[in-house]
Amino acid sequence: MSGTWNPNQYEKFKNERSQPFFDLLDFIKPDTFKEAIDLGCGTGELTRIMHDRFKPQQTTGMDSSGEMLAKTKSFSSADLNFLQGDIDVWEKPDAYDLIVSNAALQWSPGHRDLFQRLHRSLRPGGQLAVQMPMNHDYPTHVLSQAMSHEEHWKKALGGHTYDKPKTMLTVEEYANLIYKLGFQEQRVELKVYGHILPTREGVIEWVRGSMLTYFEKHMSKTDYADFLQEYQSRLFQILPDDKPFFYPFKRVFIWARKAT
Ligand SMILES: C[S@@+](CC[C@H](N)C(=O)[O-])C[C@H]1O[C@@H](n2cnc3c(N)ncnc32)[C@H](O)[C@@H]1O
Repeated sequence: MSGTWNPNQYEKFKNERSQPFFDLLDFIKPDTFKEAIDLGCGTGELTRIMHDRFKPQQTTGMDSSGEMLAKTKSFSSADLNFLQGDIDVWEKPDAYDLIVSNAALQWSPGHRDLFQRLHRSLRPGGQLAVQMPMNHDYPTHVLSQAMSHEEHWKKALGGHTYDKPKTMLTVEEYANLIYKLGFQEQRVELKVYGHILPTREGVIEWVRGSMLTYFEKHMSKTDYADFLQEYQSRLFQILPDDKPFFYPFKRVFIWARKAT
C-alpha cells in the first residue's frame, strides 16, 4: 500500500520523523557487513546515512514507489544502489548480513509471514532492525477507523474500511515471533515520543501526511474535504484544547540477530 503516503505533508515533520531512524541505528551492533538492504527506503536520504555509518560492501535501498525512487539518485553510489520492489512478497534467501526497515513494514499485511521471509533472507549471524509506528489506539486512529465503518463514509470510501490495527501484532507477539523463528538474540521495545505541537491542529496536520492519506486516496476531493471537517470536529471533542499540545506517539523497535 505504498500509495497511502503523502511525501510533502510527511516532510512537514521531517525532524520528528527521522529521530526514530537514528534511534533504530543505535540498536545495530557494529560488524563487518557485506550486504545490507533498507526495505521501504523512501527518498534514500536515511539509507545513505545508514550506509555511511555501517559501511557495508554493498547496500541496496528498495521501495515500491517510483516517485520515491526518482529522488534516490542524489544518494546513490557504486556501493549504494536503489531498486523497485514490493515488501509484501519480497524474499532473498540467505542474502543479507543486515536488513533495516524504518516506518515501512506497518503497511504490509501478514506480519508472521513477513518476518519469516525476513529471517530467511538473513545470513547466519545477520541482523534485523525494524521500526514501526504503533499508535493505533490513540484517538486519531480509533476515530478514523470507527468513521470508516459508518455507512456514509464507507460509501464515500468506495466500500473500503480502515482496519490498520489488524496488520500489526502486539509488542509481546513480535518478541514471541522473533523467538519462535529461531533468532539467537533480540531486543523488542516500545518507545513513546512526546511531540510538543503549538495546538491540537498540529495532530491533524501530522496524520494528514500518513494515516489519513488512505482516506484521501479512496475518496473524491469533495468527500475528503467533508470527511476532514467532520473528523476534526469529532477529534476535538476528545483531545483537550491545550496550548502547546502534547502528542504522545508510540513506536516499536525490533532488533534481532539470526543464529550463527
Ligand atoms: C513512511 S515512508 C519511510 C521512508 C524511509 N524508510 C524513511 O524512514 O524516511 C514509507 C516508505 O515505504 C514504502 N513502501 C510502502 N509499502 C511498500 C511496499 N509494499 N514495498 C516497498 N515499499 C513500500 C513507501 O513507498 C515509502 O517510501
